[in-house]
Amino acid sequence: MKITGKVAVVTGGTDGIGIEIARQLKAKGASIIVCGRRADYLKAAEKEGMEAISADLSHAAGCDEFVKKLAGRPIDLLINNAGMSGNFGPGEPVDLALTDRAIFLNLNAPMHLIALLLPTLLERDEAAIVNVTSGLAIAPRAGGPVYCASKAGLRSFTQSLRHNLASSNVHVIEALPPVVDTSMTATRSGSKMSAKDCAAQIVDAIISNKAEANVGMVKMLRLVYSLSPALARMVMIRY
Ligand SMILES: NC(=O)c1ccc[n+]([C@@H]2O[C@H](COP(=O)([O-])OP(=O)(O)OC[C@H]3O[C@@H](n4cnc5c(N)ncnc54)[C@H](OP(=O)(O)O)[C@@H]3O)[C@@H](O)[C@H]2O)c1
Repeated sequence: MKITGKVAVVTGGTDGIGIEIARQLKAKGASIIVCGRRADYLKAAEKEGMEAISADLSHAAGCDEFVKKLAGRPIDLLINNAGMSGNFGPGEPVDLALTDRAIFLNLNAPMHLIALLLPTLLERDEAAIVNVTSGLAIAPRAGGPVYCASKAGLRSFTQSLRHNLASSNVHVIEALPPVVDTSMTATRSGSKMSAKDCAAQIVDAIISNKAEANVGMVKMLRLVYSLSPALARMVMIRY
């Protein structure tokens, strides 16, 4: 896909991987619309020349409101990037309200936005949807059952949607990041990829019309999984 002149919507595009995707698409000539909740982060994105819309995508009304604010925009690229982890740890009381918000943000929100914005995308000469899942969508880890379930659901949805829209102008891409150095992983130790490098591989997949961006170590996980799904699951569950 040619990026110059395109209009891209990046959810959760005010921080982490999302702002890096937004910056790199902007540098290649796209007009960018980002959303998030924190006012100071939205302001900072505006200062970088992006349009920033306040939206909470963890419930249906927030998605509807966001799409209303996008009315009339000729959107070519929808990047469903906003995500959060939902705790479900041993020894902690389970916060089911948090769990529901995480499942909605990670899985339902991309479906809502795609359903509401697809008519616009179908009108464009070439368009793309990018759903940001995770290496954990391939094989889950013990530490995040809700998160892993939501990302595996989004992966399956994305694979089906790609075939569903195969004869249309809308290309469907899944981006699978490894552990990336962002606010989401601030409490995790160990090696992390930079958000900038992760975004560069995702933007490259958009430009080259790839079906998937298997980012960094996720390429290795895909290889191991293709040889032995049981081995990949055994390694990842302790990750
Ligand atoms: N970091 C990793 O290691 C990693 C690995 C694999 C996959 N991923 C996936 O990559 C995506 C980006 O992750 P990240 O690490 O860049 O996260 P991040 O640094 O925490 O940024 C999350 C972004 O989403 C926005 N957001 C959060 N909750 C929202 C809500 N309810 N409504 C609207 N926007 C919301 C945040 O802005 P506000 O807080 O201001 O709303 C922020 O812009 C996520 O889907 C994540 O699951 C991340």
